[in-house]
Amino acid sequence: MKFTKDDKIVVLTGAGVSAESGLQTFRDAGGLWENYRVEDVSSPEGFDKNPAFVWKFYKERLKQLENAQPNPAHFAIKKLEDFAKDNFTLVTQNIDGLHRKAGNKRVLEMHGALDRCRCLKCNEYWLISQVDLSPDIPTCEKCGGILRPDVVWFGEVPYHLNEIAKVSREADYFIVVGTSGVVYPAAMFVQIAKDSKATTICVNKEEPANLVFFDEFYKGKAGEILPKLVDEWIGEVKE
Ligand code: OAD
Ligand code: ZN
Repeated sequence: MKFTKDDKIVVLTGAGVSAESGLQTFRDAGGLWENYRVEDVSSPEGFDKNPAFVWKFYKERLKQLENAQPNPAHFAIKKLEDFAKDNFTLVTQNIDGLHRKAGNKRVLEMHGALDRCRCLKCNEYWLISQVDLSPDIPTCEKCGGILRPDVVWFGEVPYHLNEIAKVSREADYFIVVGTSGVVYPAAMFVQIAKDSKATTICVNKEEPANLVFFDEFYKGKAGEILPKLVDEWIGEVKE
């Protein structure tokens, strides 16, 4: 299979794409949801109840990120954007920012980003680097309100949904990497793409929950499989 420059390509990623960068996934053995209850650290109710605990969780995520670098899977996705240019859209559920670090320009971070937070009182957005993280509950320099991480929690509406639905409908190829396919709405976009006649491709260590919507499934580690696939797709390898 070979892509042309006219093909519209969408890549959707999840935590599995960052596993080889040393970041824990959520649902694998040893994943984050083994040690934390989702509702405690990833819901507005959890934050209301115990903001210091939620902040402790996200400060740990930030700490893990300090030494994390993009891996070959991120760079393969960057290569796809370089090939397809404006016909390429990257959608990610990840909040780690590693796709931006790998050089991808058009990244729709549907679950927000760890390197930003916002004020619950005045709604000002802050880069995490601008914020004094030493208090248990960081506050807004402008109004003194409580800051929360700018990540999307369960029960909240993800970012960019209209645009993601649009590019999913228009896609010629819809490629999903490193996600268990259990969290909605992220898991439904492959269905939209398939209904609109895209070729749908999955690269994942295990079968995702929404496997039925994929035309092709490549089982294994993204960092090992994806670079070869991308080279094939963009014609850097003779078939
Ligand atoms: P999960 O932890 O649910 O799934 C990660 C998937 O990646 C699993 O299916 C693994 O088999 C696969 N995987 C692990 N290592 C891999 C590797 N090296 N190469 C390829 N695949 C690998 O993570 P997500 O699907 O991203 O949401 O989770 C979705 C959402 O649930 C997250 O965005 C987060 C979480 O709760 C919020 O916090 C709102
Ligand atoms: Zn404020």
